[in-house]
Amino acid sequence: MPNDFTPPTGGTLSTIRPDDPGFALVRKRLLDLTGIDLDCYKRPQMLRRLDAILTRCRLGSLTVLAAELKPGSEVLKEFMERFTINVSECFRDRPRFAQLQHEIIPTLARRNPALRIWSAGCSYGAEPYSLAIILHEAGLKRGHILATDIDPKILDAARAGANFTTNDLRNLSKEIAGRYFTPAGGHFRAADALRPYITFRQHNLLAPPPAEQFDLVLCRNVTIYFTEESKDQVTEYLTRTLRPGGVLFIGETETIHRPNRFGLTLRTTSFYERAA
Ligand SMILES: C[S@@+](CC[C@H](N)C(=O)[O-])C[C@H]1O[C@@H](n2cnc3c(N)ncnc32)[C@H](O)[C@@H]1O
Repeated sequence: MPNDFTPPTGGTLSTIRPDDPGFALVRKRLLDLTGIDLDCYKRPQMLRRLDAILTRCRLGSLTVLAAELKPGSEVLKEFMERFTINVSECFRDRPRFAQLQHEIIPTLARRNPALRIWSAGCSYGAEPYSLAIILHEAGLKRGHILATDIDPKILDAARAGANFTTNDLRNLSKEIAGRYFTPAGGHFRAADALRPYITFRQHNLLAPPPAEQFDLVLCRNVTIYFTEESKDQVTEYLTRTLRPGGVLFIGETETIHRPNRFGLTLRTTSFYERAA
């Protein structure tokens, strides 16, 4: 269920000037309404995304955008849909997910069969439902997944778990897809057996983390547009929630620079371990 907004990767310049007086107004409105701080995002890409939102909503300036950002307004909904990029799929980056399923989770579960997992930036649920499949297949009935995202609308879709596409399921064998997803109204619905494993909750990764402790934290393809300082802040928060020996799983295009700053060591590509 990815939205149709292509993530800006460079190239086209924004028409918004860096000293545009409307920027401070938009930043304040968004911070108050959503907790999103535009200063935590890489500036050129963030301005291009704002530009795309102005065009899409047919608004003439950032000052007009700021005035239209109100609780429940269509422009605010449009902003959340366009600014937070929701692209995902089940078992995304299949080789790493296979490693997670066959090596990382069994090792962690030997230490704690009541495994606690956090899917941070879970989008419409492909990631936490994938984790629930792994737990269910392994018979880890006491395992549990906290799935969080900043976007309340995408969390509603995740809770429903009923709008998966064939693309979402392309990394699953026919057998697993058939066991855990049922065709319904042109989409696929996640099996009821998976639902008790997951709790969905709204959370901004730039705010202090949940008080819970986790054996495994996934934060994948969420911080790619954040500034280096914001990424470091998120890594610090995520590590704080990991039990000693716990594992942080990041996206395939991501790396953590000098992970020992956070008490992490690289275990193998995409997996970092908190010192025991
Ligand atoms: C590209 S999706 C990644 C989904 C999944 N982790 C994956 O790798 O397939 C990024 C998600 O991060 C969420 N997100 C963006 N900024 C966030 C923040 N500050 N706090 C929490 N979630 C955020 C977006 O709403 C979006 O659903």
